[in-house]
Amino acid sequence: MKISLTVNGNAVALDVAPHRTLLEVLREDLGLTGVREGCSTGDCGACTVLVNGKPLVSCLMLVPDAEGASIITIEGLAKGGTLDPMQDAFVKKGGIQCGFCTPGMILAATTEDVPEGNLCRCTGYKKIQEAIREERRTTRPQA
Ligand code: FES
Ligand code: FES
Repeated sequence: MKISLTVNGNAVALDVAPHRTLLEVLREDLGLTGVREGCSTGDCGACTVLVNGKPLVSCLMLVPDAEGASIITIEGLAKGGTLDPMQDAFVKKGGIQCGFCTPGMILAATTEDVPEGNLCRCTGYKKIQEAIREERRTTRPQA
C-alpha cells in the first residue's frame, strides 16, 4: 500500500506492507536508526517518536495509522546544526550513559514533565531528571 507522511519536516511517500510498524519503516526504509528498538511490546519507550506533537511508541503503531501524520525523530530535533534545548541539557548534565534510551527519553521530555513510560537500563534516572529540570528552568521558567 502507498502512504504519505511527513518525517522531520520532509514529505515522504512510501510503498509498504500494511503489517509493518512505524518503527520498522523509520529504521529500515528511512535509515533513522535513532529510533531504537528495545522491547517491541510497548513497555520500554526506546522507540518513542513524536506523532503530531505527541510522544508515541512506534513499535506498536502500524504504518498505515501514520498516514498523513507529522513524525519527528531524534534526527529531526536539532535545527540548523543547533541542538534542541532538551538535547543540550542532557549533554550538559550528563543525562546519558550508554545512550540507548536517550532519543526516546529526550523526545518524550520535550512534551512531558518527566517521561514516565521511558525506561533506562543503566538506571541513570537522577541525571536524566536533573537535565529535564534544567531545561525547564532555563527555557520555560514560568511553567
Ligand atoms: S521498543 Fe517500543 S516500547 Fe520498547
Ligand atoms: S543510558 Fe543506557 S539505557 Fe539509558
